[in-house]
Amino acid sequence: MNKAIDYYSFTTIEKQMMEKANLFELSFREVLAQHRSSTGDPQTKEIVRLALEKLKASGKEVRIYNSSKHLLGLAVDGIIINDGNPLILKKNIEIALSGRYAYSVTEDHLLYFATPIQDQYYQNAYVYEFVEDISYFYVIMNQIRFILFAGAGGFFILITLSSLWIARNTTKPIKLLLGATQSFSRQEFRRVHLHRKDELGMLADGLDSMGRQLHDYIQYQKQFVSNVSHELKTPLAAIRGFSQYLYEGENENKELQKVYAHLLQESDRLTHLINELLLLSQFDKVGSNKLEVEKTEINGLMQQVATSMGAKAKDKGIKIVFMDAKAKPEDKHIMGVHANVNSMLMSHAIANLVENAIKYSVSSSLIELKLEHTSSEIVIRIRDEGIGIAGDELEKVQERFYRAKNASTANGSGLGLSICKEIVERFQGYIDIESQIGEGTTVTIVLPRV
Ligand SMILES: Nc1ncnc2c1ncn2[C@@H]1O[C@H](COP(=O)(O)OP(=O)(O)OP(=O)(O)O)[C@@H](O)[C@H]1O
Ligand SMILES: [Mg+2]
Repeated sequence: MNKAIDYYSFTTIEKQMMEKANLFELSFREVLAQHRSSTGDPQTKEIVRLALEKLKASGKEVRIYNSSKHLLGLAVDGIIINDGNPLILKKNIEIALSGRYAYSVTEDHLLYFATPIQDQYYQNAYVYEFVEDISYFYVIMNQIRFILFAGAGGFFILITLSSLWIARNTTKPIKLLLGATQSFSRQEFRRVHLHRKDELGMLADGLDSMGRQLHDYIQYQKQFVSNVSHELKTPLAAIRGFSQYLYEGENENKELQKVYAHLLQESDRLTHLINELLLLSQFDKVGSNKLEVEKTEINGLMQQVATSMGAKAKDKGIKIVFMDAKAKPEDKHIMGVHANVNSMLMSHAIANLVENAIKYSVSSSLIELKLEHTSSEIVIRIRDEGIGIAGDELEKVQERFYRAKNASTANGSGLGLSICKEIVERFQGYIDIESQIGEGTTVTIVLPRV
């Protein structure tokens, strides 16, 4: 910008000076012509005197040189001086004698402008030079520069402020809306409101009402499932009781006995499903603070689960191995491995995972239950050598009612894992599943240690 201003200012001043020089040249040539017509023979001294008389006020200083670069005459502030010793910029005089004008500006802002004067033979016989004080020009240019830079600064501040304003008014609400949609997708519904009446405000209102409707709908669904489960509980107990009665009373007809056994098995399955649904609906209603939680020794709890599930595993020719947590040197003052849980629910969760391991394993395989610990965490691992879960289904199997594509080998409703997840999360823990199709599955529960 600075360079552009300099360039523009010097081309302007150059143009002005050239116009001036053209006028002075004309006057000088007039003197030459007049002198020639009156005397017929040019006499340099007289010409210089006459030219100076005519042009002495045309600059702060006026000089006339001959073709040998000698100063012939000089006028300062309009007065002709005979014996001056001024600063001569020889280079400019040389250029002028070659037929072009030349100028230089000194540090004290004096402009020396030299222009050639041709005689009747079109020879560059003289050089006419005038000196102009152009300080005023520098003052104006500095003022323009100041105005431009101040303007640029103001513009920059304006742009920054408007960017901040745009960021505040556009980016911030968009982030808020984005956050809301992300929490909606996690089924966490919260109110969305922007205090504005434009499109973004309308979008927020739309999102808010969608969130409320979704929340109400999900609540309604959960309530419906809970009510139906409750209603089914009593008749199902009756069906199961009668089935058992019929099964135990039928000793002769083997076909009928088979039918009653099947009835009994199916009513057991339904009872299991209803119980799990009721447990889930209880979680949906009750906050974690209402659950009874106590400091529980996990080694013992896992041992109990391993023993109670042992019989079921044995029926299928599967062996359960439990490896309890080994005491570590840093644990010398701590007895056992404890977590703050509800022992009944925690046993239910681990048993559910062991049941899956049995259900989705082939006979004569091994299930390993392992308890590990660090100073802050308890890690429960249930590893089987069963059918495994495909990588793209690892997340989905933790959702309610989802069963993997290869799960048809066993009965189930797809609720067990989601119940385990809910239980573990109630105790500030999490579940992780690793699996390879055909090789086996390892489900890990991590809980905070107390
Ligand atoms: N150890 C495992 N090995 C292979 N697949 C498993 C294992 N555990 C869970 N799965 C898969 O995850 C799905 C969901 O498991 P989940 O326990 O929630 O349901 P389920 O066992 O089918 O039924 P239920 O509600 O009776 O437990 C299962 O259907 C199965 O496909
Ligand atoms: Mg299951």
